[in-house]
Amino acid sequence: MIELTGIHRTYTRPTGESVAALADFSLRITRGELVAIIGASGSGKSTLMNILGLLDRPERGTYRFDGHDVADLDVAAQARFRNQHVGFVFQAFHLLPRTTALENVELPLLYSERASTDGLARRALEAVGLADRIEHTPSELSGGQQQRVAIARALVNEPELLLADEPTGNLDADSAREILDLFVALNRAGRTIVLVTHDPATAARAQRVVRLERGRLASDSVARVADPGSLSAVGRVADPAPASARPARTNPPASPPKRPTTEPAAEEEQR
Ligand SMILES: Nc1ncnc2c1ncn2[C@@H]1O[C@H](COP(=O)(O)OP(=O)(O)O)[C@@H](O)[C@H]1O
Ligand SMILES: [Mg+2]
Repeated sequence: MIELTGIHRTYTRPTGESVAALADFSLRITRGELVAIIGASGSGKSTLMNILGLLDRPERGTYRFDGHDVADLDVAAQARFRNQHVGFVFQAFHLLPRTTALENVELPLLYSERASTDGLARRALEAVGLADRIEHTPSELSGGQQQRVAIARALVNEPELLLADEPTGNLDADSAREILDLFVALNRAGRTIVLVTHDPATAARAQRVVRLERGRLASDSVARVADPGSLSAVGRVADPAPASARPARTNPPASPPKRPTTEPAAEEEQR
């Protein structure tokens, strides 16, 4: 679904010093994955999210989305791409104040090219458990509820890709866990999600953890999950150790063991 190759993004500090926010960075993401991006502050996580969401352009490198080169689209085409294919969730919610939950969620529909948008915003709010809060303004909602509104807004156009940059960073532990449960449920329902976090417990609930270090890929691993069912146990983390301390296998995973077969013809099917 996503293929970043050889991405470079450099910023110039006010002092004139140049910083490689991403350097020779490559990553593939397959449809249906839930990927946690971790790394120290300043390691390039937000830069990566902005590039994935076409909010920023790399100086070098290619970005293919479903096989299409999207890095070189013009500004209008990039905006259309974002509206149709990507939903964003940010740490600070970014809801319009003095505007109801329903109106906030309806906003992306103004730019949608859909024939009908009737009921979509309401259904998106129902999907995040806020059916009874649609007329509330952000100041009348808790932090966790505001983030749900933001998630409903991100989902209202039914994007294939959901990008979340530290979505639980401003929330208390209970709300954070609820929001995380929601992301896991959305992923189970088929949504591809890339989620930045500095919380090891959050990262532990993703199947795949990508760690950045000074703009480079430091590790890319599939988490060891003994019992995938345990992921749904609210409040429980499969393994309390930080992702980096856990045994991990490199991604992509080795091909699954071949099914034993007695048919000699199966030999011919080998690639
Ligand atoms: N707009 C900007 N101008 C200058 N430097 C920036 C800008 N955005 C990010 N950087 C620098 O790029 C590096 C990566 O930043 P960022 O992607 O925000 O990291 P993270 O999200 O992992 O904390 C940091 O050194 C940061 O200071
Ligand atoms: Mg950041």
